[in-house]
Amino acid sequence: MKINLANIKKAKNLLNKSECIAIPTETVYGLAGNAYSDQACRKIFRLKKRPKNNPLIVHYYDLKKVKEDCILNDNFLKLYKKLSPGPITFILNLKTNSKISKIATNKKNTLAVRFPKHPVARSLLKKLKFPLAAPSANISSRLSAVTSNDVKDDFGKKIKYILEGGRSNIGVESTIIDLRKKPKILRLGGLDIKTIQKILRKKILININPSKISVPGQFKIHYSPGIPIRLNVKKIKKGEAYLMIKKKKIDKPNYFFLSKKGNLRESAKNLYSTLRKIKKNKYKSIAVSKIPNRGLGKTINDRLLRASKF
Ligand code: TXA
Ligand code: MG
Repeated sequence: MKINLANIKKAKNLLNKSECIAIPTETVYGLAGNAYSDQACRKIFRLKKRPKNNPLIVHYYDLKKVKEDCILNDNFLKLYKKLSPGPITFILNLKTNSKISKIATNKKNTLAVRFPKHPVARSLLKKLKFPLAAPSANISSRLSAVTSNDVKDDFGKKIKYILEGGRSNIGVESTIIDLRKKPKILRLGGLDIKTIQKILRKKILININPSKISVPGQFKIHYSPGIPIRLNVKKIKKGEAYLMIKKKKIDKPNYFFLSKKGNLRESAKNLYSTLRKIKKNKYKSIAVSKIPNRGLGKTINDRLLRASKF
């Protein structure tokens, strides 16, 4: 992707004034503001209609700047070396003298840290004097945005600027891992857990449906396209859109495929855009055929299950 420096400059100027803009990342678009500014972070919560107790992910260019705000540990350094920049978010302890806005963290002493790989996001982060708080650029509990048009659909004129970055390559949010003690996955995402296990050379706890919800991102209802979803469907009902992982020989207007050949990575990339398309085509409900529960299929199933609780 060619980087348009005039656009980066415009984004930078707005962010310097504590404005809130949308930025592309390789996972999904983010609603970004200066993570050191209470004013900018308040705007993010307001625009997204996000509950105040749901802390924001903070995006950094590289390790150097994170050191100023967070306490690093061995597991983090191992994973950072192999996987950053990329679709993984690390939960770390904050330093007591960190400059991160208490609005962003909801006064928690931990921080979700991510290093996005998207060249436009990196070019912007490199030029800023502060990291960017950026939750996914969608109205709270709805589908994340994977194009600038998706962001426009959700926010219209309420958003000051959308930095163009094309379509997000991964298409689902980052995998979140808590590294404060024993590594623990808090959200399945764009990075396969097996890759993390190989690097740390151990099996990692998965805690994506805790009995006690520690952050609202773990709520059962989330990622909703705004219409009912039925899962593992073999026979659809009249008028339903049918979502399948692999292209079928017979083509019908209500059949939607996530991948031509049933590739799980490609399916994850197409998931949100296909759900948005079905909603736009005015279907009242979606039936989903079974999706293999391995690799990124696990992330797809996690999102569809939460979306089906709508
Ligand atoms: O791929 C992504 O992660 C995208 C792009 C824009 O970076 N961002 C994203 O942000 O998905 P958001 O806010 O939609 O989801 C972040 C999740 C939320 O469920 C939030 O509760 C959780 O991260 N989170 C934030 N701070 C946390 C913390 N200190 N401890 C545990 N979870 C945290
Ligand atoms: Mg989100």
